[in-house]
Amino acid sequence: MTIRPLVAGNWKMNGTTAALREPRLLAGMLRDVKLKTDIMICPPATLIRRVKSVMKGSKVRLAGQDCHAAASGAHTGDISADMLKDAGCVAVIVGHSERRTNHKETDAMVQAKAAAAHKAGLTAIICIGETLDERKGGKTLGVLSDQLKGSVPAGATAANSVIAYEPVWAIGTGLTATAKEIEEAHAHIRAELAKVMGGEGASTRILYGGSVKPSNAAELMGVPNVNGALVGGASLKAVDFIGIIKAYL
Ligand code: PGA
Repeated sequence: MTIRPLVAGNWKMNGTTAALREPRLLAGMLRDVKLKTDIMICPPATLIRRVKSVMKGSKVRLAGQDCHAAASGAHTGDISADMLKDAGCVAVIVGHSERRTNHKETDAMVQAKAAAAHKAGLTAIICIGETLDERKGGKTLGVLSDQLKGSVPAGATAANSVIAYEPVWAIGTGLTATAKEIEEAHAHIRAELAKVMGGEGASTRILYGGSVKPSNAAELMGVPNVNGALVGGASLKAVDFIGIIKAYL
């Protein structure tokens, strides 16, 4: 089965107007490129419309970094999936480890957010991953199973859901999991997805994230069951991001 890969760039809490230079450059670099991968940028909410506008005409799609589980209401500072859709997004990241850690988000909350994304017509990019202690304690595969079971909502399909495997200890640290570790985790996720999503699990994209950069992208993207990347730091500069996208050209 061929699965069209996805490379998504998560800007996190980075970027003001000056940062618009980068997606503008990226759009130029991609102009005559025949893409074999989908590309998304997840800017801070304040820049979604503007990034979309500077990339007009390119195939790059926009995604949010988080959404609230409710459709609207008294939730100061939060953003609903409908609002992201209205701003021009096609997807939203849910359950990123920084949200799970900094905002104490549980699997149940992540599941509710993913369901809200689906309801709004957005693809949910559902993040899972073990901590260093969990890996050292030999708990990695069990943790991934539990997170998948708890975070993927009913009604998830290969079209409306993407899984991002991001070992917490590899995010923003410069450390990447080895190809062998990634292969083991992704094979496990693929097998577990069959239980959680039935037949849809076989064609659902599983991204790897955690210190992906131009120098390691080709190797990591070549690992079986890796269907793309969720990129943090290296998505902020167009030259780095295109260096990762090139793993698929
Ligand atoms: P990083 O972040 O590429 O900077 O390690 C990845 C992520 O958090 O998605």
